[in-house]
Amino acid sequence: MNQYIVNGNRPLFGEVTISGAKNAAVAIIPAALMVDGICRIENIPQISDVTLLFSILDELGAKVRVLNQHAVEIDSRHIHSTKPSFDLVRKIRASYYLIGALLGRFGQATVAMPGGCNFGVRPIDQHVKGFKALGAEVTEGNFVEAVAKSENGRLVGAPVYMDVVSVGATMNVMMAAVLAEGITTIENAAKEPHIVDLANFLNSMGADIKGAGTDSIKIRGVERLNGGTYCIIPDQIEAGTYMTAVAATGGQLLIKNIIPKHMECISAKLMEMGVYVEEIDDTLLVRRSGPLQRAKVKTQPYPGFPTDMQPQIATVMALAEGTSMVTEAVWNNRFRYVDELRRLGANIQVDGRVAVIEGIDHFTGAPIEACDLRAGAAMVVAALAAHGTTEISHVQYIERGYEDLVGKLRAVGADIRIVEVPDEDLGMENIG
Ligand code: EPZ
Repeated sequence: MNQYIVNGNRPLFGEVTISGAKNAAVAIIPAALMVDGICRIENIPQISDVTLLFSILDELGAKVRVLNQHAVEIDSRHIHSTKPSFDLVRKIRASYYLIGALLGRFGQATVAMPGGCNFGVRPIDQHVKGFKALGAEVTEGNFVEAVAKSENGRLVGAPVYMDVVSVGATMNVMMAAVLAEGITTIENAAKEPHIVDLANFLNSMGADIKGAGTDSIKIRGVERLNGGTYCIIPDQIEAGTYMTAVAATGGQLLIKNIIPKHMECISAKLMEMGVYVEEIDDTLLVRRSGPLQRAKVKTQPYPGFPTDMQPQIATVMALAEGTSMVTEAVWNNRFRYVDELRRLGANIQVDGRVAVIEGIDHFTGAPIEACDLRAGAAMVVAALAAHGTTEISHVQYIERGYEDLVGKLRAVGADIRIVEVPDEDLGMENIG
């Protein structure tokens, strides 16, 4: 296991290039299982969640050929199993996309209940409701088993109304519907950039999906998906994390390879807090020289402020003048990292889904833990700004979703390094 050692209180200066979007990649890679041909996928982030998904695809019979650091070719013409092994699937939440992909193409899927970051109840009832509407029989236990009821093993298009706005359910039902007979509509669909990216990927392979990015998506089922080439969008949350890093430390970063529209909700909040943000084509210039102002934020589905930026913005607020407030409206338990921030001196009170943050002058380095992916990123942001040395443990969570975080930060002047520690020293199993 690794730890990060950070000597903080250094402003960041320079350029950072954003990698492909994790939450698009973890859907597009399973979706490649639906393609009866070879697909080439570019701009894939080098993160552990992606590596794990490649192992799952390989086990099912897909041939994954690495072309370079960020591009692969996936050949799914000879899939021999629709039951990925329990141990692999349990390590990653996004393995639920295997259900939609395998059920859609082969009319059956048996997939362990997904694992992933723990920040509250994570039901999949909306996914199941969608599969059932398309004519699948679904049983849930340690495994989710889904089988198309029709004689020819194909799902049948139908209207699906989502009771909650769910990224995962929208993408999963979209995948299942692509090869179904007839038309599926998804109402109250989520609108995140990765939903549009998955739809674009599937369309480029021959699917017929319209309306992705709105709350009403229409999918006309096709007979098969052919091969093709696709390039994944840049990661909104990775870019946002670097924006909060420079907001916390001061300095100036050019954040390259972003889609400006995706960054608006984050840029607007940081500008309100006194951070200078300028959009230059597909680059953001982010500078913080003066004091940070207090603010209020409430997480919401896109285009609202993303829950996956909540720990990072709260960390910046902990250094702002006055009292800030964060309301977490997506997940019911996403403030576990607050105890860790308090170890650095933060003054935060949590009551249910609301955190009240009294700004302090500076953090002071201490040993802390990453308790999930984005919480871990927030710990790095805090450590970069802290006076003294911070040791961050359980960084395997961070490595699930950030490509070369340490290398990218070192290149802009951060004093951060990775040290290896024996597993037993951390007193924790590797949850992945
Ligand atoms: C995705 O999770 C992301 N994960 C999460 O990012 C992100 O926090 C979340 O969307 C919200 O943006 C991936 O893309 C792999 P949801 P997902 O279904 O799809 C409730 C990260 O840090 N709900 O949109 O699992 C649910 O309880 C990760 O990168 C149901 O009630 O989230 C939650 O309150 C962590 N029934 C809300 O909807 C369901 O069937 C939103 O969840 C599904 C969800």
